[in-house]
Amino acid sequence: MSKVYVNEKSGSDSESAGSQESPYQTPAYALYKSPEAQILVYKQKEGSDEFEYAEISASALKKAKKGADGLAKKAQKQAKQAEEQKLRDQEAAKKLAELDLIKIVEDESLPKAKKIKLRSIQENVNQRVAVSGWVHRFRSQKGVAFITLRDGTGYLQTVLTGDLAKARITQELTLESTVIIKGVIEKLPEGKSAPGGVELKADYYEVCGLAPSGEDAFTNKVQEGADPSLLLDQRHLTLRGETLSSVMRVRAALLGYVRKFYEQEGILEVTPPCMVQSQVEGGSTLFKLDYYGEEAYMTQSSQLYLETCLPALGDVYCVQESFRAEKSHTRRHLSEYTHIEAELAFLTFDEMLDHLEKLFVTVVNNLLEDSVCGPLIKKLNPNFKPPTQPFKRMQYVEALEWLNEHGIPNEEGEKFKFGDDIAEAAERKMTDTLNVPILLTRFPVEIKSFYMKKCADDPRVTESVDVLMPNVGEITGGSMRIDDYDELMAAIKRENLDPAVYYWFTDLRKYGTCPHGGYGLGTERILAWLLDRYTVRDCSLYPRFTGRCKP
Ligand code: 4AD
Repeated sequence: MSKVYVNEKSGSDSESAGSQESPYQTPAYALYKSPEAQILVYKQKEGSDEFEYAEISASALKKAKKGADGLAKKAQKQAKQAEEQKLRDQEAAKKLAELDLIKIVEDESLPKAKKIKLRSIQENVNQRVAVSGWVHRFRSQKGVAFITLRDGTGYLQTVLTGDLAKARITQELTLESTVIIKGVIEKLPEGKSAPGGVELKADYYEVCGLAPSGEDAFTNKVQEGADPSLLLDQRHLTLRGETLSSVMRVRAALLGYVRKFYEQEGILEVTPPCMVQSQVEGGSTLFKLDYYGEEAYMTQSSQLYLETCLPALGDVYCVQESFRAEKSHTRRHLSEYTHIEAELAFLTFDEMLDHLEKLFVTVVNNLLEDSVCGPLIKKLNPNFKPPTQPFKRMQYVEALEWLNEHGIPNEEGEKFKFGDDIAEAAERKMTDTLNVPILLTRFPVEIKSFYMKKCADDPRVTESVDVLMPNVGEITGGSMRIDDYDELMAAIKRENLDPAVYYWFTDLRKYGTCPHGGYGLGTERILAWLLDRYTVRDCSLYPRFTGRCKP
């Protein structure tokens, strides 16, 4: 009779052979594997400390038989299940093989398809067209498949019927795959709805790139309501969503209309450098970089460069990234933002304020009248009230009075006094309560930048302005600039800056000075106001802020 060995401590059922050198762990398994064999179990010798292999006891053998029966049943069940799965797989493979026989071939006798972008579907109703894009939505039922196609310029519902719907590529189609579809655009009958009130009856389509299914599927990567930081890791994918892509579309139009406004006003675009060796808005927010062994910075503002352009080009503007190593972790601070800045010569402070109002009103009206952006703004911000001229104008001291009257304290929790900074929270409370655009002017010298011109009637304050908008607060900062050489040099020294580094900027006051002023608009803050976004992070393509510089 053959023998099998069991050691409940050192043995293994799954990895052993049942020999003395490689014993099983349980008697049940040993019996299940070798029903005829004699079972030897490793146990303590009676009346001794020693261990030895000895024949299994009758009671243990009885218990082992039960266990062995259980194992045999389990194995039978598993074998049955495997057989059933095999049949199912064969069936599925057969079905797929049948679907593979359906070949999607273009009917050459049809009129040639005109290649179009989805923005022009309305002009191509009743035409045979070829459209390409990403599968934005997809459903397939009762032999009909519906693909909502997206190409970045618009959306189009397409309908696949017959073989097109049945084919294997349609059965396996996934969201965000790319497809090329040909067919005729038709107006939808009353009562049916789809983007633009039309749909494309497809007669041919092909898949260009199949997106993953299963665990890697798009919907698993980008889940609505997921943690903002996870969504930012997947920004390249979240950008494809309807909301973010709408914001980016309005953003592009905003920059377009800003440029148009400046062109109409005869203000010239220039492109100042981003890598600089001078500061504008204080050393604490400078990003330093090693420039071939010299210390340099990422620009905080192009203002100083714009000023130098005035004698050469007249009024100028730029749309340039500005960088701030912000200590503030707020919903309106980014480390990199798109700064729209302008500098205007030979004008008064009041003229600059009028110009700012005109800029806002013109650009916002243009956006609202824009056939693409107008509806997007309405959708994202249904309660938006466009600003009208004149804006509410308020001096810093009047703001302090207002805040004190309304029991809003300063940063120390006390009543505001002259010279206090109006921090973000207080500023927001005031702006949200007044709920209109405000031009807040005449800030004290000590809380504003070194280059700002003092008011002729009160040297304690400057010809400075912040434009405040409901829901965001400050979206623009500007001022008239010191135009007297000696006064500017004194201000530079007071700030502990090296005048030699700024010779190119102070020279403007030497070689034909002039009254001038300018301002900077934060593009993302304008968008947060216009589109009612909670944070400026939602208004930047790939936002950078403390702790985030990727992807
Ligand atoms: O008030 P700021 O710092 O002014 C300047 O930089 C001037 N040199 C501009 C000029 O006169 N040419 O910034 C101007 C605007 C702010 O009103 C705000 O909208 C935006 O730039 N801004 C920021 N936006 C996002 N994140 C930040 N960290 C920002 N800092 C300023």
